[in-house]
Amino acid sequence: MYGENRGRLEDSPAVRELGWVVRRDLWGRGIATEAVSAVITALLEDPAVAEIHARCRPEHRASAKVMEHLGLALARRIDNDIERDGAWMHSDVYVRRVAS
Ligand SMILES: CC(C)(COP(=O)(O)OP(=O)(O)OC[C@H]1O[C@@H](n2cnc3c(N)ncnc32)[C@H](O)[C@@H]1OP(=O)(O)O)[C@@H](O)C(=O)NCCC(=O)NCCS
Repeated sequence: MYGENRGRLEDSPAVRELGWVVRRDLWGRGIATEAVSAVITALLEDPAVAEIHARCRPEHRASAKVMEHLGLALARRIDNDIERDGAWMHSDVYVRRVAS
């Protein structure tokens, strides 16, 4: 395991939210794309899953690229949803809708 890749069950079992962090010295090797792709493939085997969500800070282009490569599209921005060291930050929410 080179980093962390976790899923969180949202209010509805039809919506799964993914988040990931890769160890810094291993960035840029395709690890995030490969790992998240495997998780999405597993989720798509569950007929109850209708949407896959992920979010990142707008300036985090590497995260956004992982999402875009895996079929998630920018859906909305949430202003001031994370506070760290007294500073509020925004999140971009990416969504992949699963055809039924
Ligand atoms: C985001 C993160 C997981 C990417 O991991 P990774 O294993 O390096 O990702 P990949 O190697 O699969 O590359 C993803 C894409 O981002 C691109 N990328 C990497 N660093 C970048 C940067 N600084 N700016 C723009 N694009 C960048 C890569 O070129 C690649 O795109 P490409 O396939 O079109 O060339 C890693 O940077 C990280 O852990 N960041 C901190 C935590 C975080 O942001 N988590 C996401 C919240 S959900």
